[in-house]
Amino acid sequence: KENIYILGIESSCDDTSAAVLCNQKILSNVVSSQKIHAEYGGVVPELASRAHQSNIVPVVEQALKKAGIAKEQLDAIAFTKGPGLMGSLLVGTSFAKSLALGLNIPLIEVNHMRGHILAHFIEEDDYAQPSFPFLAMTISGGHTQIVKVSSHSNMEVIGETIDDAVGEAYDKSGKILGLGYPAGPEIDKRAKLGNPKAFHFTKPRVDGLNFSFSGLKTGILYFIQRETAKHPDFVIDNLNDICASIQHTIVGILMDKLKVAVKQTGIKQVAIGGGVSANSGIREALKNAEKTMGWTTYIPKFEYTTDNAAMIAIVGYYKYLEQDFSGLDVMATARLKI
Ligand code: KG4
Ligand code: ZN
Repeated sequence: KENIYILGIESSCDDTSAAVLCNQKILSNVVSSQKIHAEYGGVVPELASRAHQSNIVPVVEQALKKAGIAKEQLDAIAFTKGPGLMGSLLVGTSFAKSLALGLNIPLIEVNHMRGHILAHFIEEDDYAQPSFPFLAMTISGGHTQIVKVSSHSNMEVIGETIDDAVGEAYDKSGKILGLGYPAGPEIDKRAKLGNPKAFHFTKPRVDGLNFSFSGLKTGILYFIQRETAKHPDFVIDNLNDICASIQHTIVGILMDKLKVAVKQTGIKQVAIGGGVSANSGIREALKNAEKTMGWTTYIPKFEYTTDNAAMIAIVGYYKYLEQDFSGLDVMATARLKI
């Protein structure tokens, strides 16, 4: 068959998304982000699950309509099995199962983190696709990993966080500074206006390729408490410099580990994925590494950085080619390993 049509469904956290791919080409990618969580300062699992329930049907219908194809033309349904919030995953999983059953087409389970990595294989003008093997650093609100990718299906985690994810470091720092949730984008925006060397935060000492971010968060908290005791307006007066300094420290931590990974593996092809790969600091640092260290870097198109179903559909496409299908008894798995 020349053209394979895959419907992807993503519901692991607080974005309900559906996408249609024809082979590696994207026909539609609809994302409905849940605004409700901002007022709680974080994702509320019960509310997320309920919002997915009301969003999933219209989001899938819209994705099919935008793609201009009828559901009868679909060759398979790919859905996120995990990792993520159980109540959220269940909505996408149940929906995908019933649709696959109703249409009598294969069901394909997808690991969300593999989606962030294989998003680089969605065909886009001006975006090169990595060749194997390459290193992928997944950086999001829930994950921080370095993965050695040997093929579309063969992946090995060679380093990961031992406590907080890097996105959490951004969001928790933002909370300390009184910023809204999620704070990553605002810290990034302010960082561009501030002096990255204004304040010094200690980087964690973690051996090998593992990461740690909880000490940094505590360091920032104590620093802000100490300075605010001296000058009550410290944060207001120095917000951009504080943000720039935090960003400088976090990007430094990520780049240090990538350098170790490149040295250890001898692989100089480096890709990033996940919400934090939208960050201007890490994007710039990677671009520089092309010149200074001879790396080839792959930075995702902005719309594929945060959670989306196109990345689930592309994993589905490669699994379809291998006829790697799931039974209708497949279960959502909150703590799914790569
Ligand atoms: O991948 P994602 O959408 O959801 C998870 O799977 O977690 O990532 C969301 C995370 C949040 O922590 C958010 O603050 C962070 O990505 N983020 C950023 C930026 N844009 C989103 N962090 C730093 N700079 C950004 N520009
Ligand atoms: Zn994600």
